[in-house]
Amino acid sequence: MTSGSDNNGNSNGGSKKRPLVAILSGAGISTDSGIPDYRGPNGVWRRDPEAEKLVTYAYYMSDPEIRRRSWLMRRDGPALRARPNAAHEAVVRLERAGVPVRVITQNVDGLHQLAGMPERKVLELHGTARAVQCTRCKERSSMEAALERVAAGDPDPACESCGGILKSATVMFGEGLDPAVLGEAVAVTKACDVFIAVGTSLQVHPAASLAGLAADHGARLVIVNAEPTPYDDRADELVREPIGTALPALLERIAAG
Ligand SMILES: NC(=O)c1ccc[n+]([C@@H]2O[C@H](COP(=O)([O-])OP(=O)(O)OC[C@H]3O[C@@H](n4cnc5c(N)ncnc54)[C@H](O)[C@@H]3O)[C@@H](O)[C@H]2O)c1
Ligand SMILES: [Zn+2]
Repeated sequence: MTSGSDNNGNSNGGSKKRPLVAILSGAGISTDSGIPDYRGPNGVWRRDPEAEKLVTYAYYMSDPEIRRRSWLMRRDGPALRARPNAAHEAVVRLERAGVPVRVITQNVDGLHQLAGMPERKVLELHGTARAVQCTRCKERSSMEAALERVAAGDPDPACESCGGILKSATVMFGEGLDPAVLGEAVAVTKACDVFIAVGTSLQVHPAASLAGLAADHGARLVIVNAEPTPYDDRADELVREPIGTALPALLERIAAG
């Protein structure tokens, strides 16, 4: 497919403006890639309620044993090895078809970008698991390098610049979102014509409230999720079918106008 537009949501040389599509993705878009969600039927928290502690800032900072378990989870978990699936690829096809698209993702797996979405069109509300960040001096470095230190026998590698506690560059429970990223997400949400919430239980705020904000500002709200969400009654369209087939079908319909 070829793209004749500038993809920025601006009309191009007098051609008809194409609607801006915002896609809010959650863990459910990546389950087909082998990364379990938190709250779905096979979600991590239904199987191991203690797992919530591993992504809660206060526990992480105060308990070396939680940090040791977290590093093992990062080392052994599926996120870093996962490949994009049909749903991530369908989003890229929509973008390459010339439709202005912005992805707002709660996921930290980087699979939208790995599938081919341009970095600048993906807003990672909850950060990324592909990098680490020092909790004291905020310096960022690669997850690979930190995991090499874990493999070499350090159960809780410290920041090499200041000795502070290192964590993945994700937003844990109890931490605030990056205001710049959230601000951009709010702007996209208010400006979009279609807002698709896909694979999210819409229970984590402020990400979830973007669905309501989109509807308040007149966007068509589409929710693609196997289970009910608190925003279902505000949706113009509800899709309960599996994301791996439902999202490609929905986006093809949108690309066809
Ligand atoms: N891949 C990741 O990066 C990842 C994985 C787990 C959790 N998280 C983090 O945890 C938080 C979890 O909240 P959330 O709302 O994103 O996820 P969630 O676990 O709360 O909800 C996921 C939803 O997706 C649905 N779902 C799962 N697979 C599906 C499929 N194939 N077809 C249709 N529906 C499907 C489930 O029914 C569930 O309602 C996020 O903030 C995210 O940062 C990220
Ligand atoms: Zn540091």
